[in-house]
This record gives sequence, structure tokens and C-alpha cells, in this order.
Amino acid sequence: MRILLLADIHANWPALQAIQEPFDVCLVMGDIVDYGLEPAPCIEWVRQRATYVVRGNHDHGVAQQVRINGKNGFKYLTGVTRILTQERISQADRRYLGSLPISKRVTIDNTKFLLVHATPRDPLDEYAIADVDFWSRRLEGVDAQVICTGHTHLPCVLEVGERLIINPGSVGQPRDGDPRASYAIIENQRVELKRIEYPVEETVRTVWESNLPEPAKALLAEVFRTGALAKPDSGRHRPELGATPANDLLRTAEEAAAV
Ligand SMILES: [Fe+2]
Repeated sequence: MRILLLADIHANWPALQAIQEPFDVCLVMGDIVDYGLEPAPCIEWVRQRATYVVRGNHDHGVAQQVRINGKNGFKYLTGVTRILTQERISQADRRYLGSLPISKRVTIDNTKFLLVHATPRDPLDEYAIADVDFWSRRLEGVDAQVICTGHTHLPCVLEVGERLIINPGSVGQPRDGDPRASYAIIENQRVELKRIEYPVEETVRTVWESNLPEPAKALLAEVFRTGALAKPDSGRHRPELGATPANDLLRTAEEAAAV
């Protein structure tokens, strides 16, 4: 049994296409849309190929047609790209995103899995750190041996007592400084976090060819090319981020986006 774990595809079609792994089961932990500008083929791929899928906060926001007016970082990018996401998906796509469960329990090869985008306590929005104490508190009463998650865009495998937390990282928008698409494979009870190069410039080209505001194009290109947003004290230009303490920038931006 070979299980492919994907999360946070974020409408990055070239990144998703680069993952050519054979699998028996494919688990998708949400955030299929926003940020990237090719949501329709990504939704179609997930609908056709994934075995179990849960809803992410961005899927939820698009399904519910939530408009975001963020001034900073990822929240700003969510607001401006969501407008294009809505233009580029069908009613059926929107209904599909809205039909996804918030959490999913499934038994595979006698192992109990729980799929959530964020955490069991707050499946859509809670930002989880890779910390045993943090997760211990969130696993009380959870009947699963493996908890598959996403949301942070940071890959990790964490043992918490007898249980395992797996975050495969982000397919379409890694934020750990490595721009390659991130995913995970479980095979023979072993978890492997994997990275694959993809044609980043194809993704960047869709951004430059869009009618997004120029600052958004620059920020998105930076994230796709570097796997992170530069900190405001790095000397690189970044609009409207001066008030955010540098050390907290990425965390703050992710939390701000989680609406
Ligand atoms: Fe995400």
C-alpha cells in the first residue's frame, strides 16, 4: 500500500503536475485554491484522483464567497487572488469545495487516520507548531493513530506518544525557504517527506499575465521563486509590511490569512 499525501496545492497547476508518484490511496488535506491562478485544473485533478479530501480555510472562503481585504503579506495576497479564483472556477467547482468535509476519519491497512487541514480542535484555522506538548493537548479524545494535516506550509513528521502527526508541506506554495513542491509518501509503515522541482517560471508567468495589482505580482513571484516572503528588514522591497515585527512575519501572515 502506497499512500500519497498532498496539502496546500493553492491552484499551482505546474507544481501539482510535477508530482508523478504512483499511489494506491491519495489523501488531500485542503487548500486546493487561492494564491495560484489555475484553480480549475487543480480542483479537477483532486476530484478525479484523490481518494479522501478535507476542506481547507481557503477552500471554505472560496466556497462561501468570502471577500478578504488584507493589507499585508499573505492576507493581502488572499484578497487579491480570491477575486481571480472566483472568476476562474465554475459553479460546480465552488459546490465541490463547499461539499468537502471539515475532517475525515478513515482506516487504511488497519491503521486509523484522521485528516484535518489545521488541527482536530480547529480543523480549518488553527496554526499548529511542530511541538509535542501543543499536539498532545489537541489529541485528547482523538481516536486515530495517524493525524494528517496541512495549513502551515511547513513539512514535518512528529511522534506524539504512540501517534504520528504528518504534515506533507505545501505542493503549491512552500514557505520553508525551499521552493520545490512538497509532499509525502507512506509505504510499508514508513513516512517519507519528499520534494520535487517544478517549472516555477510557468507559475510565475501566469501571475505576470494576470491583471493582479503589481505589488501582488511581485510578492507572489518572490514566494514561488524562493519558498518564502522576505522579511521587511532584509532590504528587499516589500509593500505595506513595515509595521510587522520581522521575527513574527510569516507566522503573523499565515494567521492573518486564516480567515
Ligand atoms: Fe494553505
